[in-house]
Amino acid sequence: MTPEARGPRVVVVGQGYVGLALAMRAVEVGFDVVGFDRDEDRVKRLAAGDSYVEDVSAATLQQALASGRYEPTHDAARCEGFDVAVIDVPTPLSDGNPNLTHVEEAARILSGHLRPGATVILESTTYPGTTEELVAPILEEGSGLTAGVDFHLGYSPERIDPGNPTWNLVTIPKVVAGIDEASSDAVRGFFDQIVDQTVPVASTKIAELTKLLENTFRHVNIALVNEIAMFAGDLGIDVWEAIDAASTKPFGFMRFTPGPGVGGHCLPIDPSYLSWTVRHSLGRPFRFVELANDVNANMPDYVVRRLVHALNRMGKPVQGSRVLLLGLAYKRNTADARTAPGMIIAENLAELGADVRVADPHMRAEHVPFVLVEPTARDLTEADAVIVVTDHDAFDYELVREHASFVLDTRNRLAGPNIEPL
Ligand SMILES: NC(=O)c1ccc[n+]([C@@H]2O[C@H](COP(=O)([O-])OP(=O)(O)OC[C@H]3O[C@@H](n4cnc5c(N)ncnc54)[C@H](O)[C@@H]3O)[C@@H](O)[C@H]2O)c1
Repeated sequence: MTPEARGPRVVVVGQGYVGLALAMRAVEVGFDVVGFDRDEDRVKRLAAGDSYVEDVSAATLQQALASGRYEPTHDAARCEGFDVAVIDVPTPLSDGNPNLTHVEEAARILSGHLRPGATVILESTTYPGTTEELVAPILEEGSGLTAGVDFHLGYSPERIDPGNPTWNLVTIPKVVAGIDEASSDAVRGFFDQIVDQTVPVASTKIAELTKLLENTFRHVNIALVNEIAMFAGDLGIDVWEAIDAASTKPFGFMRFTPGPGVGGHCLPIDPSYLSWTVRHSLGRPFRFVELANDVNANMPDYVVRRLVHALNRMGKPVQGSRVLLLGLAYKRNTADARTAPGMIIAENLAELGADVRVADPHMRAEHVPFVLVEPTARDLTEADAVIVVTDHDAFDYELVREHASFVLDTRNRLAGPNIEPL
């Protein structure tokens, strides 16, 4: 393709779960896309057509490369001359506080390449005020331009749900906002070409709060069912059947299920961005988040305690017992083990002297710091206990039920005399 024939130039900063998926979609709809990531190894893999993001297939990546409209790079100079730049870098916590150094760095890099008329969109999850109070000044300082006057600036939270076969980047409605009307139009205009439906809101702060509201809602409700599961177990009541029954109510109830804890880049982190804002700006706690953090963070310990008691009933010490974890990723049908509760459970059991084995068909051996097994009938038979941590569809649950002598099932996938639900 000749340079004259090229479409609008889009730069996506950060080529991880969110940024790579967006870059692929932008190529698909006809943009000329630079995927900038400061991680050289990642860029090399991308350039070789090797995708490390499960929801982006190697075929999609290779097609994008072959189109000549996708350029992965770690050279910041390639961000030059963009029409639209989207920031998709991590927003972690450091000592429980928001760490926005990646966003700051991304904004600094873009500021050096910002031209009048261009649009910058932040997609990373963050606290209300980040776009206007943190990103705008960095862009203005580095470019000598004024946000809202010379260039457009907005925020649009990403809602993708890795591994979800129904809802994807295109079909999930996209909340969009700008710091002024022209910016709102520019952000909406861009995403109208990417997704099926955009949902404009009146300010970037509202859009930022929307994402945190969604994830806090989920975090708190998971904590609620986790706490109920723990006391229902002590009371000898089957919480799963109660949840199924409650789910028949056609209004006013939303189904959440207990589990071994929360993991990944969102639930253990995002709600704390909101509680930080409340404490920082208003000097008071956001009690729901603090309670939910406490309950969910304790779930891996609770699972370990339950297993220790079960082994005790069998007359077996934890030390030397073989424990097989089914699933290590924090989420079903994905390979993402970032802050996964399974990792904490495995580490705690190993510390107690258990012989820990892990089966996770989605994960590569180099990312699993334990003995990785298939699991075969023999792996299951030889385990003193099996824990269903992540209920990947790829597991043969019938094989598990048939060959494992004892299963602690944190996901309610199995039933039988040898199965103990959470
Ligand atoms: N993963 C999800 O399912 C999901 C869903 C919705 C929202 N989010 C949010 O989206 C944001 C990105 O998350 P992710 O999961 O894609 O992260 P990720 O860790 O998968 O990818 C981020 C990428 O950004 C790169 N990076 C970091 N700083 C950079 C910089 N200054 N310049 C260029 N590249 C840089 C990293 O090398 C990495 O490749 C976060 O705020 C996250 O909370 C994630």
